[in-house]
Amino acid sequence: MSKTFYVTTPLYYVNAEPHIGHAYTTLAADVLVRHKRARGGSAFLLTGTDEHGANIEKVAKAAGKSPQAWSDEVAARFRTMWEALGIRFDDFIRTTEPRHEKQVQKVFERLLKSGDIYRGSYEGLYCLPCEAYYDEGELLAGNCPVHGRAVEHLREESYFFKLSRFEKPLLDYYEKHPEFLAPSWRASELTNWVKSGLKDISVSRTKVAWGIPVLSDPKHTIYVWFDALQNYITAIGYDPDIGAVPGAGGRGRSTFHEGEPSPEPGTRNRSSFEELWPADVQLVGKEIYRFHGVIWPAMLMALDLALPRQVFALGWWTVEGEKMSKSRGNMIDPRELVAEYGVDALRYFLFREVPFGGDGDFSREAFKTRYNADLANGLGNLTARVIQLVEKNLAGEIPRRPALEGKVFGTGVLAKQSEKIYAAMDALAFHEALGLIWEQIAELNRTVDREKPWATAKTDPEAFKFLMFDLVWSLRLISDWIAPFMPETARKMQEQLGAQAAGGWGKLAKGDSLFPRKTEEKAP
Ligand code: MSP
Repeated sequence: MSKTFYVTTPLYYVNAEPHIGHAYTTLAADVLVRHKRARGGSAFLLTGTDEHGANIEKVAKAAGKSPQAWSDEVAARFRTMWEALGIRFDDFIRTTEPRHEKQVQKVFERLLKSGDIYRGSYEGLYCLPCEAYYDEGELLAGNCPVHGRAVEHLREESYFFKLSRFEKPLLDYYEKHPEFLAPSWRASELTNWVKSGLKDISVSRTKVAWGIPVLSDPKHTIYVWFDALQNYITAIGYDPDIGAVPGAGGRGRSTFHEGEPSPEPGTRNRSSFEELWPADVQLVGKEIYRFHGVIWPAMLMALDLALPRQVFALGWWTVEGEKMSKSRGNMIDPRELVAEYGVDALRYFLFREVPFGGDGDFSREAFKTRYNADLANGLGNLTARVIQLVEKNLAGEIPRRPALEGKVFGTGVLAKQSEKIYAAMDALAFHEALGLIWEQIAELNRTVDREKPWATAKTDPEAFKFLMFDLVWSLRLISDWIAPFMPETARKMQEQLGAQAAGGWGKLAKGDSLFPRKTEEKAP
């Protein structure tokens, strides 16, 4: 049996309201674990919030709240948002939880002892929203390359993590594990950065009160990134004081099957850690690839832990061609789209519109066009017309599998298509998987147009039955294919197709339209 497939998202800063950029990353993780589970494996999805650091402290203060009260509110909004988008996370970790803070403090002490962390002083150019230092050469016109805003000159006594020590081991690792940094076309930027020479990084602050204190030197708090990155192991029960539990190497104990409640946060222990670690896919935004592709694996090496199988960097969504930002006021709140089009339409659009890993532009016009073309006229129409034909001509009942293979596709064609779709899903080529599925939907719609079953129902009832069997069977398969992306639609289709009846072959009954066509412009 294979190991539980472990997928993580970055932890979201609690300085912003959840928008489609955040939703995209978390939805991708959800699609992936749903796909793994549908294929019979066990999978585990971790997400959460990143709550420490000067930036959060500042935002909370501006809102007249304590950083903890502020974080409580925003973290709850992220959680609610994920639930509203049908995301089934197995755990939600917050970096202010004791289960995380305690282990982070212990990790720090352990690395102090091993010499991977040492004391020194630091002077440099700091970007507050990034919570990161930059070299002069990395700035764009003197400003932060990510935020385009002024950086501050900081000087402080600090502890350092010996990142430089891992330059060679990291390069060796990348070479031996070409799948580690994905997509591959993003990897060279990162390996070149490592090759240009790694410097030790400052991992504590004396000027930031809102952080995890260093146990042995509490006037220092732990640098927010050094703290937050560890969530991927603290959430699943890592404890640096405990070695591997003999016999608990529960790889393959399928504790995390679909439908099973996940253990309460904080009740995981070393054996859940053994079962889940190393992560299989860690999804991150392209701007935080260095943290996840360089610093994080170096930290794991320092702790003698295995590295994740893959760190996958996603692109960014712009909105109508512009960067999404608070100041531009163009953040897209997913709830708005869900209210108008439904959750599944949003889930579909985000993964169909752009090749996974690349940048994408969100436009309301493109959303509506895809909705009408692919969902209302494509899948929705196909499902409705097939069910109506069966209801009208066969009283909602289709014959059990006929002796002859159907004339439309036959099982062979569809099975081959399944293989291709699964391969695309495994490669995280979500747009490709959806493209393959929609090819079949278009083909089936064309078949109905061509075969004119409303006429053959009268002239050749046997041929009509075969065709209907094939179409219904194809629709059932399609409902399985789309389920990771559009779980609610898949369920509705299966219900209407009688697949949820006892024995799996109930009467077909047309329900509400899956995707009502949008014609009118909504009033502004
Ligand atoms: N807190 C850090 C991550 C720590 S992980 C240990 C952080 N948080 S963030 O809230 O700023 O970003 C979280 C994720 O959201 C990142 O992967 C980022 O790329 C993603 N997105 C934020 N805005 C985005 C878009 N406009 N488009 C797509 N994703 C973007 O970084």
